[in-house]
This record gives sequence, structure tokens and C-alpha cells, in this order.
Amino acid sequence: MTQDTALLAATDQPQGATALAERKVFIKTYGCQMNVYDSGRMSDALAAEGYVATETMDDADLVLLNTCHIREKAAEKVYSALGRLRETKKARAAEGREFMIGVAGCVAQAEGDEIARREPAVDVVIGPQTYHRLPQALKRARSGERVVDTEYALEDKFEHLPDPTRVKGRARSVTAFLTVQEGCDKFCTFCVVPYTRGSEVSRPIAQIVSEAEKLVAAGVRELTLLGQNVNAWHGMDASGRPIGLGDLLYRLADIPGLARLRYTTSHPRDMDDRLIEAHRDLRMLMPYLHLPVQAGSDRILKAMNRRHNAADYIALVERIRAARPDIALSGDFIVGFPGETEADFQATMDLVETIGYAQAYSFKYSTRPGTPGADLPDHVAEDVKTERLARLQELLLKQQQDFSRSLIGSEIDLLLEKPGRMPGQLIGRSPWLQSVNVDANQSKIGDIINVRITAAGPNSLFAEVAEG
Ligand code: 5AD
Ligand code: SF4
Repeated sequence: MTQDTALLAATDQPQGATALAERKVFIKTYGCQMNVYDSGRMSDALAAEGYVATETMDDADLVLLNTCHIREKAAEKVYSALGRLRETKKARAAEGREFMIGVAGCVAQAEGDEIARREPAVDVVIGPQTYHRLPQALKRARSGERVVDTEYALEDKFEHLPDPTRVKGRARSVTAFLTVQEGCDKFCTFCVVPYTRGSEVSRPIAQIVSEAEKLVAAGVRELTLLGQNVNAWHGMDASGRPIGLGDLLYRLADIPGLARLRYTTSHPRDMDDRLIEAHRDLRMLMPYLHLPVQAGSDRILKAMNRRHNAADYIALVERIRAARPDIALSGDFIVGFPGETEADFQATMDLVETIGYAQAYSFKYSTRPGTPGADLPDHVAEDVKTERLARLQELLLKQQQDFSRSLIGSEIDLLLEKPGRMPGQLIGRSPWLQSVNVDANQSKIGDIINVRITAAGPNSLFAEVAEG
């Protein structure tokens, strides 16, 4: 969940706004997929005000940083980016040209007033729950006010945002994110999310189904449901019966034209029986699950307030694999949590060996002020963290490569997503979220074709169209 994404690929650009009031916005997205989704919706909100998206900061009249607060480094990046934007703003002012700076996302939520104090060049600070008010905030800023709007809005932002499929000129990709749940009540002791994104809120099922249907009508074939703790999603069916994420997946699987479903990120405690049944029954639910464990030592898991131990996690993965034998696992890991000894770290390595991951994200523990972890004794020295992370990443990388190589020679379904570098070449997505290059002259983007994997590179696979 940690790729820095300069969002708004060419396909995502609203191109239809009139030349008359045309202003350009550049959105830089940091952090997780939820921010990627939010950046898309902010772009839609701004398109309704005549903004067009640009991929070059130099063209922009408005630069919006959609920020991440999860680790210290992520937050620091924002302040250094703001320093550079301040200089651009000065240069633009000398030319008599407008240049506005907005900060959105989790750093905005956590440090809104601090940003305004430290960086006077910032015009607007807007939190993840209020970005539907972005157009008004910009108007207020243009009349000289500095706007910091980071409250947890009473109104539902999704009800106030333009329909994403109706934004003029917006071409859709064949894959899309759909946020179904926000916030987290788990309070892992290292994590800022319960403070920045607030407590768990689920979007109503009718709103989700309607957004999904519109996305599919606009050409989307694969939907990834998003939430900080997505498998805590809960709602009610038509007869008022409480339902969970498993039921939501069965409902979405009925949408004609939708070919693939995924969801992320899950907490092991919230993987209930119905959700595991969905993995067993729904072929369109992709056999790939991001299920962070964070650590393998029970002592550390307890100190992290994870509310599961290593044996619980292993037993859960066994049940999921029994339901869907071709499922591949992905995970998140933290090394060097306060008090972690070499033996604790070895327990993480052992757990990784036991599970076997197809993909993983691993981090050095980063102290987050205000979280209980920050106040624990026995913080681990930086060089120890660095050395443990290197050992863990070596193992995880080997597992990832082994998984990719194990696919060579097999036939898989590929969702064709975009043109490749060479003429006639297309890039598709495997069921396990890998990028696959294939020569497929007869096929078009959005098709799902059967291919045979021929080779595995470090970041992608290669395939040929399978006959028959
Ligand atoms: N330090 C390091 N990694 C963290 N994560 C969350 N908080 C911290 C922290 N303070 C990691 C967890 C989480 C992922 C999104 O980021 O592994 O699952
Ligand atoms: Fe953070 Fe834990 Fe909630 Fe995940 S489950 S968002 S790590 S508090």
C-alpha cells in the first residue's frame, strides 16, 4: 500500500471542460489505494468547476498533495514538497499568474493547523472527510481566506460528489477502486489510522451497488473494494438483516458485465465464515488476499494489540486455502517494534516460511506521536531495524520470485488493461495482481483471454496467447 502515485494517468483525465474557465490541476497522491480513489473523486469534484487534470506540475494552476501519515517519512515528504511549491508560487506571482496550493489526505487531517502555520504558501487544507467541499474552499481561498477544513463532516461526502462516470470527458480504465468502508476501530498500537481516518464507517449497500453498476456500465471489468479495514464492512439487506463483506461480494457478483472482484485491506480478526465461503463459491472473486500479520512473535503481536497470535493466523490461512486452494497471500510486516528481540524477529521469519507469500510490503517501525507504541520502552536501534528489514525482504523477495516462476508453463486468465511498449503488445493483470506482457493482436483492452506464461521477470510476467 505504499506506492507513490502521480495520479491521473492519461485515461483518467477529464478533457471536456470549456476553454473559457479552464484551469489546470495537478494531483500528487501519496500512500495507499484509498488515497488513489480519493484523488479520483477530488479530480471529479474539480472537473465540475471547470478544472482539467494535468500530469505536469509546470502547467498547473492548482497543485493538490493528497498525503499519507502512516510513517514519519511519508509525512516529511509533504513538507519538503511544500517548500518547493512555495518557490514556484513566488515565481508565478512575479509573472502575475495564479498558483494555488492545497493539502489533502491524512497529513492534512492530523496536522492541518501545523501545516497552515509552517507553510504560509498553502491556500487550502482539506481532510479526507470534507473533500467534497473543495470547490467552495478554493473560492474562499481566492477571496483571501486561508481555509483549514478537517472536521468530520456531518453530511456524507459521497452524496455530495459528482457521479464519477458522468464527469465530462473522463475515460475510464477497465479496473477501478470503490471505497466501501473508511476508518478503523482496531487501534493497533503502532498505527495512526484510527486517529487520522476516525472510527469505522460503512457505506450503505445501495450506494455501493449503484456506484458499482455505473462503473461497470462505463466499461469497468474489475472492481477492488477498498477500506482501511474492509472486512469490517457491515450493512443491512432489504429485509433489515445485518450483513457483512461476504454478503456484499455475493450481491456485487450478480452485476452483469462485472468480471472480477477484489477487496483490500483486511484484518485477520474480521475474516468471518461468510467471507471465506465467498472465496469458495465466487469464481470472480480473485484468488489473492492481502492479509497483514505484521509480526510472528506472540509477545510482539500482543504489544501491537493485534488481537490474534501467530497460530490463529496460520489456522485462518489454512481455512482460507482449504476453501480456495489457488489463493495467494500478500502481507504487511513491521520490523523493530519496541521491545523486539532477535528471537521475536526470528519468529516473524519462521511465520513467513510457514505461510509462503506471493507478495508483501515490509517496513521499519516508525514512531508515530500520539500512538501507544510511541510511549513503549526499549525502542530498537535504527541499524538493527535496517539489518532485520534486509533479511526479511530477502526472504519475501525470494518467495515472490518463486511464486512467479511457479506459474511458468501454466495457462491463466488475463484481463487486458493497457497497451504495451511494443506494437501489438498488451499489458494485462493476472488473477494474482501481476502485470503480464502478451502479444495479442486479435484482442482488445477489457477482454479476458487465456494465456500461457512463458517467463517471469523481476516486476512482470511474459505470456503467449493460449490456443483453443
Ligand atoms: N511504522 C511502520 N509501519 C507501519 N504501518 C502502519 N503503521 C506503521 C508504523 N508506525 C504499516 C503496517 C500497515 C501498513 C499499511 O503500514 O504494516 O499494515
Ligand atoms: Fe492501523 Fe491496525 Fe486499523 Fe490496520 S487494523 S488500519 S494497522 S489500526
